[in-house]
Amino acid sequence: MTNEEIQNLIDQTDIVGLVSKYVSLTKKGKNYQGLCPFHNEKTPSFYVSPEKKIFNCFGCHKHGNALDFIEQIEGIEFKDALVKLCEFNGVKYKDNYVNKNANLNLKYYKIMEISKDFYKTFLTKDKSGIDAINYLKKRGLTDELIDKFDVGLSPDFGDTLYKVLKSCDYLELDMADMGLVENNSKGYYDIFSNRIMFPIKDEMGNVLGFSGRIFKGEDNSKYINSKETKIFRKGEVLFNINLAKPEMIKKHRAILHEGQMDVIASFRSGLGEAVCSLGTAFSDKQAMLLKKFCNEVVVCYDGDKAGITNSIKAINVFKRNGFKVYSVMLPDKMDPDEYVLKYGTSKYKEYFESHIIDSLEFEYEAQFFGKNLNDREVLNEVKNNVFEIISRLNSQIEIDEYLNKFKDKINSNLDAVKSDFDNYKNNHAVSNLDNTGFENYDPYMGYDVPSYNVPVEPDVKVITPKHLYNNICEIRLFRYAIESKSLALSIDEKIMNDLGGMTPENQNLWLSLIDYYDEFDEFDQGKFIKALNDKDVEQYITINDYILKEHITNDIDDIEMCIEKLKSINLDNSNKILSNKISSEPTPEGQTYILEKMFKNRKLKEQKENNIKSKKQKS
Ligand code: UTP
Ligand code: MN
Repeated sequence: MTNEEIQNLIDQTDIVGLVSKYVSLTKKGKNYQGLCPFHNEKTPSFYVSPEKKIFNCFGCHKHGNALDFIEQIEGIEFKDALVKLCEFNGVKYKDNYVNKNANLNLKYYKIMEISKDFYKTFLTKDKSGIDAINYLKKRGLTDELIDKFDVGLSPDFGDTLYKVLKSCDYLELDMADMGLVENNSKGYYDIFSNRIMFPIKDEMGNVLGFSGRIFKGEDNSKYINSKETKIFRKGEVLFNINLAKPEMIKKHRAILHEGQMDVIASFRSGLGEAVCSLGTAFSDKQAMLLKKFCNEVVVCYDGDKAGITNSIKAINVFKRNGFKVYSVMLPDKMDPDEYVLKYGTSKYKEYFESHIIDSLEFEYEAQFFGKNLNDREVLNEVKNNVFEIISRLNSQIEIDEYLNKFKDKINSNLDAVKSDFDNYKNNHAVSNLDNTGFENYDPYMGYDVPSYNVPVEPDVKVITPKHLYNNICEIRLFRYAIESKSLALSIDEKIMNDLGGMTPENQNLWLSLIDYYDEFDEFDQGKFIKALNDKDVEQYITINDYILKEHITNDIDDIEMCIEKLKSINLDNSNKILSNKISSEPTPEGQTYILEKMFKNRKLKEQKENNIKSKKQKS
């Protein structure tokens, strides 16, 4: 779409109608007024002007046109918002930006949508649904909630869904690919049978898979989930992300629970920003999905031992993805669903909001869970863990607070605890070489030449692993490459031609980036990560912060020097490999050959370093 077409579309949009889908508005003179969906407020300061075609909040200052509104309320990107705006106006979106996968997936979304509708109808319209509905009601789900979450029921007749999909002309292959049916000697049959069905959706509301719970009798597995399919990856989805999205944007936070029933319990208590994974460990991809909508999270898992252990794992995932992390621990080993059933929704919400603690405090408290402090050995172990946690604090006041708390907990005196803590610190000294090194780090010359000042934000502890310093040129190249496709391709050509690419740890990531540009013209972190395999995601997360921290100049000389440095690193690396080979080389000729190669490499490397030096002197 041209800019002009987009502007026309914005101008023709009934902005009051659009906003009313999210906010209840009342007419006030020429304008409409309502409670701002972008921040919490009790008196309305959010206005929509049908005349000017804009919205504006006098409280949080969010403002813009119809397109901006969709982008911000849905937490989606420009292009996706544009598609939605077209939909709202009943205009066909002209697609010169085609997401290949999205189109491929359309067929699957459709099958899943029909299956969801089928399960849902079966729950409410068939008399066998009565038991299931009674079960759900007992657990606090009203008709309204059942509808809101699209809860359904899978029949136990064997092949009903299969027949329904067949009558809609879907192929067996596609049904099986979606994990809905399976084939045996007698033909196709449904995989889910006699289970309450929770659809698992993506943030746009597409149904990707199902989680089915038994509701009478016993079974080996309480829940079974769809198998991994072309559109359903358990480690990447979050139950309720579609409904939680606007709430997370509004409240600037997400809540993470362990199970679907907990999420629903929170939802009906007014905590609609809650999501959960499906019995799998919380992953980086899931954290990054949430990162699109908010920067803060409250982890609230079951109050039992497993819940606490898993909380700490999830907290760490959130931390390394840049979240401010909080936690709520429920009493008596309860999960949110049990708490709500026992005390009701308002008591739960009250408890939740008043027991939010910093994740560090949670980690501290967790150390004592189920521990017998009278056992000297246990006490020592707890003490070490507690000291490790306290030593992460920067403020002496906070450190003293915790030491004081700890002293009471173990019935000791402050002097003793302080002296033990000092001992602990002496034995576990954290080298701050990395910090000082970073400030004096020369991006071209490597770690050893303290001449170049990389700007460091005040008060931000930069702990760059030392091995990364020598590769910071490589990181800079990544920085350029995400800046623009053309830079990426020109760098790729240079490094591929005569040095075979990046260093081994980053090589795959680099190739994936170049592949990515094959399909897209602009770098988009979300889309890029989607295209990566787990190992590359991990590597990307390791270096991502450093990539973003690099200040680039867009100067060709800078790029050239980074490439030269990379070559020099690669030469060094290949010499390390060669030197390991010499001893296992049986013939003297072979050994000589390797040695010659090594000397050649060394000479080349010296040349490179000299080039860099003289370039630097010139600049
Ligand atoms: P829990 O065992 O804590 O279940 O598993 P829950 O949420 O309390 O379930 P209810 O209240 O008995 O209904 C937490 C989550 O782990 C997944 C489900 O997503 C569940 O919500 N899970 C659990 C499975 O995938 N399979 C299972 O067999 C059990
Ligand atoms: Mn439960």
